[in-house]
Amino acid sequence: AGPRPLAGRSVLITAGGTVERIDPVRYISNDSSGKMGFALAEAARASGADVTLICGRTDSAAPSGVKAIKVNSAVEMYEAVMERLPQTDVVIKAAAVADYRPKETADHKIKKSAETISLELIRNPDILQSIGEWKSGNKGSNGLFVVGFAAETTDVERHAVDKLNRKKCDLMIANDVSREGAGFGSDTNIVSVYDTRGLVENMPQMSKREVANRIMELIAQRLPMKGSGV
Ligand code: PMT
Repeated sequence: AGPRPLAGRSVLITAGGTVERIDPVRYISNDSSGKMGFALAEAARASGADVTLICGRTDSAAPSGVKAIKVNSAVEMYEAVMERLPQTDVVIKAAAVADYRPKETADHKIKKSAETISLELIRNPDILQSIGEWKSGNKGSNGLFVVGFAAETTDVERHAVDKLNRKKCDLMIANDVSREGAGFGSDTNIVSVYDTRGLVENMPQMSKREVANRIMELIAQRLPMKGSGV
């Protein structure tokens, strides 16, 4: 690969945590800062790609030189991602998407009343799974290359390989988020990369930008040639 190995490629990246509203002043979210997704966006841009970044809640502004689209909930992120797949060559799902959302969102601030109240949660769409299904469905699959993340605290390898297969990804980046210097909020990460044949590599602790650069190299090596009709 040359110095701009992703020139002419369109890369879609999700970053940050989704926000699932309970009422106008309260929500369910998670500790994702967006740093990993932002680092991937910068690395993809530096590799020459045309980058679209779909951001949930993040701690800082999106990098320059990329097309950033702000969303709130998992449902909004699902719509923003799915509508862009036909024009996308590579999708990287670094966002931490809530698996559940409140069944009802109250129009007004919920008042304090009983000693205990219950919040009923319903399943969100699994965006990565839907991308995999879209890809394996026939029309318009355009050789889309799918990269997932797996944030795990136990049995990291088993869960990551299971997610790779179930969600029909080409690469899975496994994060043991219980480790110091890895996962949510930190400036560094420690990841292992899997493809459909098994372990590709274990990366040592590195800055999220270095991790992102290496992920871009692994993607560039595996992309089908443009126009090869795959
Ligand atoms: O943002 P930072 O603070 O830098 O932290 C980075 C990170 C820890 C958030 C990131 O490295 C990471 O691991 N992101 C994935 C977090 C996650 O939601 O993992 P998961 O194992 O729950 O989900 C597996 C994959 O399915 C992910 O690619 C996720 O984006 C996707 N998913 C999950 C649920 C859902 N409803 N839809 C999805 O698309």
